[in-house]
Amino acid sequence: MPSRSAAPCPTLRRDGQQVLILDQTRLPHGEHYVALSTLEDAAHAIRSMQVRGAPLIGATAAYGIALALNSESGNTRLAAADLCLRATRPTAVNLHWALDRMQQVLAPLTPEARPAAAWAEADAIRTEDAAANQAIGAHGLAAFAPLIAARQGAPLQLMTHCNAGWLATCGHGTALAPIYATHAAGVPVHVWVSETRPRNQGLLTAWELNQAGIPHTLIADNAAGWLMAEGQVDAVIVGADRIAANGDAANKVGTYLKGLAAQAHGLPFYVAAPWSTVDLTCPSGRQIPIEERSGDEFRLIPGLDANGQLSHCRILPEAQQVCNPAFDVTPAGLIRAIITETGAHAPGQLAALHPARNSAHDSAHDSAHDSAHDSARLS
Ligand code: MRU
Repeated sequence: MPSRSAAPCPTLRRDGQQVLILDQTRLPHGEHYVALSTLEDAAHAIRSMQVRGAPLIGATAAYGIALALNSESGNTRLAAADLCLRATRPTAVNLHWALDRMQQVLAPLTPEARPAAAWAEADAIRTEDAAANQAIGAHGLAAFAPLIAARQGAPLQLMTHCNAGWLATCGHGTALAPIYATHAAGVPVHVWVSETRPRNQGLLTAWELNQAGIPHTLIADNAAGWLMAEGQVDAVIVGADRIAANGDAANKVGTYLKGLAAQAHGLPFYVAAPWSTVDLTCPSGRQIPIEERSGDEFRLIPGLDANGQLSHCRILPEAQQVCNPAFDVTPAGLIRAIITETGAHAPGQLAALHPARNSAHDSAHDSAHDSAHDSARLS
């Protein structure tokens, strides 16, 4: 089967003055593309998780600005579009990073010049993310080298959580990019994919890996520790939604438990993310805002009914109280390395190495960030 890693990413693509997205709420049961034509379409796609994954959220927000300016491109419209998109999801900092970048390019321009510039900048964000994914893949493969050698030709046993593949980015993914690179290098690899309750993004990862012909096995989240104890895991690799200056990394809830289990078993735990996910305005993970999502994600389980139609099965009464934090924070001390497009770095080195340390970015980001911090669960 041809590898997806050689194909252009179909998760999000531009079609003239529209954007086509693969609707991830309908995966893995069917591939449906949705056209985004307005700012509201883009905001809805992010909020409802038709698009998801930190880098893809950022790129979609950038295109949301371009869509907003198609009809009107004055200062009021630009500010309102920015505000609307910033409020869609709180944890993935790529959203703010992309919107800051759009503001920096567009604010100084005349209204007439803005629409074309907005499309060009959104295209650049998408293209650069794909290039970052490619580099993360190469650096991840290099980081795996000692593990591959130790396996002496037996499959490298990797574990991942959530979906940090091409569905979540504009290229090959973050955590999955090194896995695709390992497979493409002819190294046998097997991936343990955790289901990732309650939104089950692990099913998306399994769907992706199936398409690429990469051996993998889906597991219940609770099986992860036992597999490590049994010696069936060589390393864990996950993505991130926001990495603080000290190297603490927020990612899909359940990541932290895998970090703890990996440490208990002496296994390397890698976080793969582009620099656009590193937020130097967050000193530590305690300042990262953690999204709390609807309890219905717990109470209702999606799947196909007897007629093959997408449907929801109720497993809890409406009145059942539940707690549904969508992310958790893995402390830097549990992370062996953070694999970025510039290499595999020790978490403590990030602040010093950040390639885009400039006061303009930081101050533009601070105001949006301060309000998000007010609701942070870890503050
Ligand atoms: O809620 P989601 O599905 O948007 O969360 C996604 C994750 O947690 C990913 O691991 C992260 O964004 C990295 S994606 C390359």
